[in-house]
Amino acid sequence: MSDNPDKVNVLSVRDAELHRLRRKAWDRGLGPKALTTYQPDIQRKVDIFIKQLNERLGQSMDISKWTMYFSFDIMGRIAFSKDFHQLNEAKEHFAIAAMRDQMAQVGLMGSVPWLMHIMVRIPFLSGATKIFFDYTRKQIEQRREEWHRDATKTPTDVISWLLKANDEGRHLGPPGDEALYDDGRLAIIAGSDTTGATLANILYYLIVNPDKYRRLQKDIDEASKSGDHKSHLPYLEAIIAETLRLKPVVPSGQPRETPPEGLFIDEVWIPGNINVLVPQWVVQRDERNYKRPLEFLPERWIEEGKHLIVDDQAYFPFSIGAYACTGKQLALLQMRTLLRRVASEFDISFAPGEDGRNFDTGAKDTFTMAVPSLPVVFEKRQEPVIEQ
Ligand code: HEM
Repeated sequence: MSDNPDKVNVLSVRDAELHRLRRKAWDRGLGPKALTTYQPDIQRKVDIFIKQLNERLGQSMDISKWTMYFSFDIMGRIAFSKDFHQLNEAKEHFAIAAMRDQMAQVGLMGSVPWLMHIMVRIPFLSGATKIFFDYTRKQIEQRREEWHRDATKTPTDVISWLLKANDEGRHLGPPGDEALYDDGRLAIIAGSDTTGATLANILYYLIVNPDKYRRLQKDIDEASKSGDHKSHLPYLEAIIAETLRLKPVVPSGQPRETPPEGLFIDEVWIPGNINVLVPQWVVQRDERNYKRPLEFLPERWIEEGKHLIVDDQAYFPFSIGAYACTGKQLALLQMRTLLRRVASEFDISFAPGEDGRNFDTGAKDTFTMAVPSLPVVFEKRQEPVIEQ
């Protein structure tokens, strides 16, 4: 892994001030104004997802695969205006396949998902990694050329927001080619696997808890009847939050260095310059923090179930602090938009012969959480209320 801040992505910049400046450009590229411009693309991908479900009614679909198609397609567009067309073609794009294969193999070697540098330094693994690196570099170079030709200088994706930051010089964009390519890869990797796996986890929980799925459908129906297709539905938010509590997709914590003078955590002394990890998976399932900690109870995130939370600080699926997830709002937007449509139009169940056990227990911590396949059947609801 390179330590040179001129060559690495924003997450790998260890100098706090440098990180803060580069992070500002990212925050604009994934901020509220930018999200509004990404929304039509998200909607288009949701439409294709729904069309594919409609064409496969009553058939077994590996939903883990389909939610990945969805999230990677969206991130291709949002990272550098490239459509991977996975949803339309119902198959994985070659560059994404290469990258995911590598992550599965290298995953156990580190605790941070996007340290792709590790991969290119392992000779026997470098072939597939190179495919992904070459592909993304080409897309980013193309985007940069378009940006330089574009007189309006209106950013339309993360890469163009980063280039704009460089042009303006107010916040730092990536300081060189290598850093720009690495930021582009970061967007794809950090933004896709995470959201895709979370969506599969949510659908799993909704199938094993049909009462909660029906309650969600009822809430969506009521909102739709009153003409409200947009506002946040508290119960949907609660379902997403509870899924990320039980199955945080970056489960093992991210390394942080203690200050040189060391520190006490309660009565435990940790010397200086030591890497520490606080794993989400463990903290968010601890009975000292949540009552009935292993049960899927979205109610704990709304008024009626508040008593089920003992310590609301013990929740950090997007991490906390200066390096916390900058794509959180984008992830939530994608998940809400898709789930509203799915729940409004379909009933869901496991495919014949499937009980979800392998999915529940078989996920692997390969940087991010790699979820096993989940065969699911979608049926049209009897009297669906179609969302616009
Ligand atoms: C359910 C979805 C997601 C989860 C659970 C998640 C989780 C996380 C976590 C835990 C971190 C902190 C890593 C660390 O401190 O080392 C992080 C960082 C990051 N995430 Fe996400 N993420 C999600 C979706 C996204 C999306 C959609 C994007 C869009 C590109 C994104 C972009 C990033 C970036 C750029 C960072 C690095 C931030 C920095 O270093 O300042 N994430 N994410």
